[in-house]
Amino acid sequence: MKQLTHNDVENKQQKFPITIVCDAIRTPENIGMCFRISESFGVEKIYFHENSPSIENRKVINTARNTINQIDYESYRKFDELIHQLKLEGNTIIGIEITDKSIDIQDFDFKNSEKIVLLLGSERNGIENINLVDETIAIPMYGRNSSMNVIHSLAITLYEITNQIKTS
Ligand SMILES: C[S@@+](CC[C@H](N)C(=O)[O-])C[C@H]1O[C@@H](n2cnc3c(N)ncnc32)[C@H](O)[C@@H]1O
Repeated sequence: MKQLTHNDVENKQQKFPITIVCDAIRTPENIGMCFRISESFGVEKIYFHENSPSIENRKVINTARNTINQIDYESYRKFDELIHQLKLEGNTIIGIEITDKSIDIQDFDFKNSEKIVLLLGSERNGIENINLVDETIAIPMYGRNSSMNVIHSLAITLYEITNQIKTS
């Protein structure tokens, strides 16, 4: 067995109709990791709150590696206006959040939605305006902590969605 190097690897490149909206994430590393994992899973676009660390932040750049140049992004000011606009554009708004109504991620049929917006909560407050979402999904956990890192939850969700909707 031989470990493949960067030069040996050529992924099957595919874009998925997935947009990420981050609700006021504060940690620069989380913004950088959001870029990196979104690029890995063929996400179309990322929206960040204007008060989140910018893409000029050194920690964001280091964590994102080169992916900031490979994925479309935009900042927003008013969360409710952005969600309203994305709904008008035909997206299903799915909150990744632990709520009393959340569906376990493996029980959710992502094939029913033509275009998906995944909404992520902030590190401290979660998704603040949860009533704007169409659905919420949660990732089952088996440890003592009540929640996981927000970008870890994004990674698991992107794996599950792309696994369900990929063409081959
Ligand atoms: C650290 S959590 C937010 C903290 C939480 N509101 C609390 O109780 O303190 C940050 C974000 O990660 C995501 N998250 C973490 N664990 C999750 C899980 N098991 N299922 C779904 N989303 C999760 C959600 O988007 C959440 O808003």
